[in-house]
Amino acid sequence: MTAQEFTGRTALVTGAASGIGLAVATLLAERGAQVAVADWNLDGAREAAAALVKTGAKALAVQVDVTDPASVEAAVRATVQGLGPLSLAVNNAGIGGAIAPTGAYEPEDWRRVLATNLDGVFYSMRYELPEILAAGGGAIVNMASILGTNGFAGSPAYVAAKHGVVGLTKTAAIEYAPQGVRVNAVGPGFIDTPLLKDTDPAARDLLISLHPAGRLGRAEEVAELTTFLLSDRASYVTGSYHLVDGGYSAR
Ligand SMILES: NC(=O)c1ccc[n+]([C@@H]2O[C@H](COP(=O)([O-])OP(=O)(O)OC[C@H]3O[C@@H](n4cnc5c(N)ncnc54)[C@H](O)[C@@H]3O)[C@@H](O)[C@H]2O)c1
Repeated sequence: MTAQEFTGRTALVTGAASGIGLAVATLLAERGAQVAVADWNLDGAREAAAALVKTGAKALAVQVDVTDPASVEAAVRATVQGLGPLSLAVNNAGIGGAIAPTGAYEPEDWRRVLATNLDGVFYSMRYELPEILAAGGGAIVNMASILGTNGFAGSPAYVAAKHGVVGLTKTAAIEYAPQGVRVNAVGPGFIDTPLLKDTDPAARDLLISLHPAGRLGRAEEVAELTTFLLSDRASYVTGSYHLVDGGYSAR
């Protein structure tokens, strides 16, 4: 393999067995990174890592439950032990959660979504940052959503969690910029991944109509922006929230 922009760099991607995380892990590996494919779905992570290894990349499947700080700490340790000093991370694992208006949202559904989509991003940065500092710097992307800045009826927990991810991103960026760590958030519009598998055709058409581009996004389109933000080409980009949404937020 010829040297590419991520050659020699170790990346950890959570939620990498499927959808956006899988597309990000694949693009990072194509561009030379050694990639920890982290997911609570271990079979899926193994399958994805094996596919990357087949292309000549160095990849490792790691089981992680991002709602559990001990599990995240162990996954970060396994990544460093298996692939070397960590300099890149994409905190992407997430769930859609139940759909109900705020006045009828079950507290346990709220907790589950917040635990995965917000606590999970905090725990990930909590254990990644010391390793990235030890490696001499690097970059983190947190996967937010257009719902990190817009409301969405029926998804109070998801919207609150994603707004939280944007705030957490800005705070970590301010804290660690002097030490050579950039932290950004990505806000995808609705993307055609297994996350939307339970969406019926009418609801899907409605979602499409919210995007001036006239279609849902592709995971690969989110991966392009994410890998740009991780790369040295984005060396002056930190603490910001970047949309990839087919025009959704421009309306
Ligand atoms: N698909 C969309 O429309 C869309 C839009 C905006 C933002 N996002 C965000 O992008 C991220 C990825 O979503 P996707 O569409 O690729 O979904 P997906 O369902 O295809 O993939 C999510 C992955 O996360 C893993 N995961 C879930 N909970 C986990 C946990 N506790 N610990 C470890 N892994 C866990 C799943 O096993 C799965 O492999 C999520 O944070 C999601 O909120 C998605």
